[in-house]
Amino acid sequence: MDKQTQDELKKQVATKAIDYVMQRLKPNDILGIGTGSTANFFIDMLGEYKGRFAATVASSEASAERLTAQGIEVRDLRDVDRIAIYVDGADEVNARNEMIKGGGAALTREKIVAAASDEFVCIVDSSKQVDVLGAFPLPIEVIPMAANLVSKQLKKLGGNPVLREGVVTDNGNLIIDLHGLKIENAPEMERSLNQITGVVTNGLFAVSPATVVLTS
Ligand code: A5P
Repeated sequence: MDKQTQDELKKQVATKAIDYVMQRLKPNDILGIGTGSTANFFIDMLGEYKGRFAATVASSEASAERLTAQGIEVRDLRDVDRIAIYVDGADEVNARNEMIKGGGAALTREKIVAAASDEFVCIVDSSKQVDVLGAFPLPIEVIPMAANLVSKQLKKLGGNPVLREGVVTDNGNLIIDLHGLKIENAPEMERSLNQITGVVTNGLFAVSPATVVLTS
C-alpha cells in the first residue's frame, strides 16, 4: 500500500473515531489520546469539538504538544480521576483485539493511559490487521543499563533483539525491537516479557486488549 493511500485510510478511520467518541463523551469527561500518525489525524480533527469534553490526557510529549496547538487542554494523569475513552493506533491487531504497539516508542505511557481508561478504541487502517502477531518487531522499553542483559534473555525466547538506534523514550529509556516472533499466546508472552529484570514495558497489549477496533 503506498503512503498516500495509507494516509487516506488513516484519515478515514480517524473520522470514524471522532463520530464514535462524540456520540459517547459527556461534557465533564476526560479523553485519552494516543501517539503516532493515525492518532495525529484524530488530534487534528479534534480541535473543532473541544467544547464537547473537559480535557485530555496524552500518552506522549509529541501528542501533548499537538493537542495544545489545537487549543485543547492537556492534563497530567495524576490530576485526573477517570478517563472515559482512550483513542490510539496500533502497529498490528488480531481478531481478539490484541495489539502490538510502540512503533513510535511511546508504549509505556500508552499502556498507562490505556489502563486508566474505561474504554480503549483502537484505530487502524486495514494493513495493520493480522492473523498472528509478530511480523511487526515487538518493541520493548528497557532501563538503559540493562539493555545487554535484557537482550540476552530475549534471545533465549527465540527472538532476534535489535536495539533501536538513536531513540530515547519520553521516560529516558531505550527501545529493543524483538524480531522474528510468531505470537500465538499474546497474554502469556506479555506477562513473561514483563518478568525480565530491566524491562519497563513491552508493546503487547493483550492482557487488556482493545474494547473496540475501528478500521478503514
Ligand atoms: C506509538 O508508540 C505506537 O504505539 C503507535 O500507536 C503505533 O506505532 C501506530 O502508529 P501509526 O498510527 O503511526 O501507524
